[in-house]
Amino acid sequence: SLSPQVRTLMDRIESGLPDGRIPATIFGNAEVHQAELRKIFGRAWVYMAHESEIEANGDYVVRRIGEDSFVVTRDEKGDIHVLFDACKHRGVQICRADSGNTSHFRCPYHGWTYSSDGSLVGAPLWKNAFGNMSKADNGLAKAAQVESFHGLIFATLDPGAPPLREYLGGMAWYMDLLFGLDKDGVEVLGKPQRFVLDANWKSGADNFSGDDYHLGTLHKSVYAIGAFPVPFSENMMGYHIQASPGHSLSFSMAEDADEPGPKFFGFPESLAENFDTANISAHQLEVARRSRVFVGNVFPNFSILALPMTEDGASHPPTGVLTVRCWQPKGPGQVEMWNWFLGYKNMTPEQKDRAYRAGLGTFSLGGAFEMDDTEPWITVGRTGRSVAAELLDFELNYEMGMPGVGMAHPVQDWPGPGKVYWTRYEEGVQRNMYAYYADLMRAEPGQWPEHEF
Ligand code: FES
Ligand code: FE
Repeated sequence: SLSPQVRTLMDRIESGLPDGRIPATIFGNAEVHQAELRKIFGRAWVYMAHESEIEANGDYVVRRIGEDSFVVTRDEKGDIHVLFDACKHRGVQICRADSGNTSHFRCPYHGWTYSSDGSLVGAPLWKNAFGNMSKADNGLAKAAQVESFHGLIFATLDPGAPPLREYLGGMAWYMDLLFGLDKDGVEVLGKPQRFVLDANWKSGADNFSGDDYHLGTLHKSVYAIGAFPVPFSENMMGYHIQASPGHSLSFSMAEDADEPGPKFFGFPESLAENFDTANISAHQLEVARRSRVFVGNVFPNFSILALPMTEDGASHPPTGVLTVRCWQPKGPGQVEMWNWFLGYKNMTPEQKDRAYRAGLGTFSLGGAFEMDDTEPWITVGRTGRSVAAELLDFELNYEMGMPGVGMAHPVQDWPGPGKVYWTRYEEGVQRNMYAYYADLMRAEPGQWPEHEF
């Protein structure tokens, strides 16, 4: 169970949220971090990989659940497994590459050998050493549950976690709308990028839950070079959606459905002509048609972004970019950022190339947006670790869009699930994330917080 200090912080989140207050120390406190690994990452569904990264039998990639390594494999029959990267003999790491293709993993210590489905197939001098020992009981450990949604592979270490679809709740409607927009779905464009920041994972999740407000200040230079085609004040028009507890998203959208400007997140018209209702409803298609930006976070640390961008505003018109990313915790003071660019399978090679390059120019370590974002998050972590924040009970302000604060107001006639607000001057999307965060942190093992509004 939680230490008294962590429990007090979680109680303060609960009591402070109705006033839009969150204790800053949750972004740096080491005990909070340890508790998160167990209570959040040890239980929630976390993103592992896209199926297109392990297309062939024998393909594998190494990923993390919390701070622990797992090998995501496609076995010789084509089935997907999420295997704990630790030898059953002495716990030695069995996989020493980030990705590859193999039929077997051989432990470097004594040579126990596992097939790509995790079962133990043998060990050196088996008869002398292990004679009649059961192989069946000595395979690699696996994630408790593994499920795919639109090719996105998620896993959880909690056998009692609700099924993925139930865990996503209303967020599934919005993920359908984006990943199911084109009838054959999406695939990864190239390898993921990763880099380590001295920041807390929650800063990324918080930002992608719908922090649209920072664009006008922090990303001013992006507008200056013309890398993003929707002017700031126009981009603040749209919807903030608490899709279900923990999961939030935001759409940039003109109030008038036929206002000029990018449609379908800026994807090329020749592609958008084929978007239809093969996988989604007419309502979902219409929301996608009107949308300029989709930005959202699947609790805890999986974010999704689609928007029109260009690698070079001077010589290229914007095109649609789709990225998914993980904010991977790495100790209380660090996060490893994982970033994948995706494209619709039916895009032409030229369209995929354009989307990838426009993504690189904006949302990658050297990208115009990403470079801006990372610096402030580093200082959020520093504030969170500070003695002053602890001694002063320093609290952060999440009041935007609360009743009577600013211009946001609830929307009733929205075709999708969740609590919906018009205009993006609103921080209920983040309050939704932290409310669920505190609930899950305080939940007893085996119990799940009410997953209803
Ligand atoms: Fe892996 Fe001994 S630790 S074979
Ligand atoms: Fe940003």
